[in-house]
Amino acid sequence: MKLDAIALANKYGTPLYVYDFDYIENRYSTLKDAFAGKKSLINYAVKANSNLSVIQHLAKLGAGADCVSIGEVKRALAAGVDRYKIIFSGVGKRDDEIREALEKDILLLNLESEAEMKRVEMVAKELGKEARISIRVNPNIDPQTHPYISTGLHENKFGVEIDMAKRMYIYANKSEFLNPVGIHFHIGSQLTKLSPIRESAQIVADLVRSLKAIKIDIKFFDVGGGIGVVYDDEVTIKAEEYTQAIFDATKGLDLTLLCEPGRYMVANAGAFFTKVLYEKVNDGKRFVIVDGAMNDLLRPSLYNAYHKIEAVGLGTDTEKTEADVVGPVCESGDFFGKNVPLPALSHNDLLVIHSAGAYGFTMASNYNTRSKAAEVALEGGADRLIRQRETYEDQVRLELDYLK
Ligand code: LLP
Repeated sequence: MKLDAIALANKYGTPLYVYDFDYIENRYSTLKDAFAGKKSLINYAVKANSNLSVIQHLAKLGAGADCVSIGEVKRALAAGVDRYKIIFSGVGKRDDEIREALEKDILLLNLESEAEMKRVEMVAKELGKEARISIRVNPNIDPQTHPYISTGLHENKFGVEIDMAKRMYIYANKSEFLNPVGIHFHIGSQLTKLSPIRESAQIVADLVRSLKAIKIDIKFFDVGGGIGVVYDDEVTIKAEEYTQAIFDATKGLDLTLLCEPGRYMVANAGAFFTKVLYEKVNDGKRFVIVDGAMNDLLRPSLYNAYHKIEAVGLGTDTEKTEADVVGPVCESGDFFGKNVPLPALSHNDLLVIHSAGAYGFTMASNYNTRSKAAEVALEGGADRLIRQRETYEDQVRLELDYLK
């Protein structure tokens, strides 16, 4: 990202999230172009970054949305995503969420259990509607990623096994209130190897073929999200290899191909800006204490995830020593990086934490009554605020009336 980080930090304050919208557009086009010649829809996984302006930016480019709560569905609609491009996934949808999704007439509900299918059928019946559904198949493939973001093994809570999926399709096909139009799998996130996706796509495409043989015609083939990005020195999946694997698996089938990338679209487009408060040395160990914390960007604390940290505006010739970059939250796990080589720093120097556009702000919390950061978009050389910095008043608004 080419930007004057210091000017932005001074204009909007820190901690701050900054997203490069031109980069997001580039990612969208790269992936969409790799589907050229096939019917396809990119359903941006809103959970990665659900800022309305980010969703709107992708919607204008033609993207749909993959949502996992009615809140995300509402965000997608508010941001201008066409309702027939919205998918509602997730293992635990409440009746009221199912009802609202059916009333809003979105593209489909992606189901993850037989019990859920029965609930959806019941709600659809109450509304006198036919629910378009897809079923999330768990292909029992090891995605070879971090265990917390691995979802495609039977030991994970997601989806249903092939035999169960088949039984569900047969049931749904007979039901007056269910219309099984799609099939889905998603085996994990930050995938850097193609083979697990290729194998899963083959398994699921074979299921589509066997359903076709019993006159159940699947129209939407959804390969989930998960394409990995470069945080450090990872070698990851190329868009054309990814789509080719899907084309190979679905050969001969007349399908609209869906995918649900989140991280791929936004991770590298975003950075988190934080300013140095203090430095200290404890028994020879150097700590840089900054104004951002784990409540703003949880990935290092939760997954031990690596994010490149860079001090900006300081000469490159200054000698670097290793430091832990930590926030003010009262947890030893509150860190952004360990043993990070950094120059000598002073109060108010700026650190940029890279590749923070996905699962950054969306996983932020108010822990320690810290207000959430502001968010800024960069587009065509201009910057603009896309979410105000939260205030203390915003945080306590829902509690104040109950003081006795
Ligand atoms: N579709 C489904 C059904 C998903 O569960 C997910 C992510 C996606 C699509 C988008 O996956 P992506 O393309 O972003 O990999 N908080 C974790 C990531 C959790 C991913 C959850 N599901 C992290 O910060 O690494």
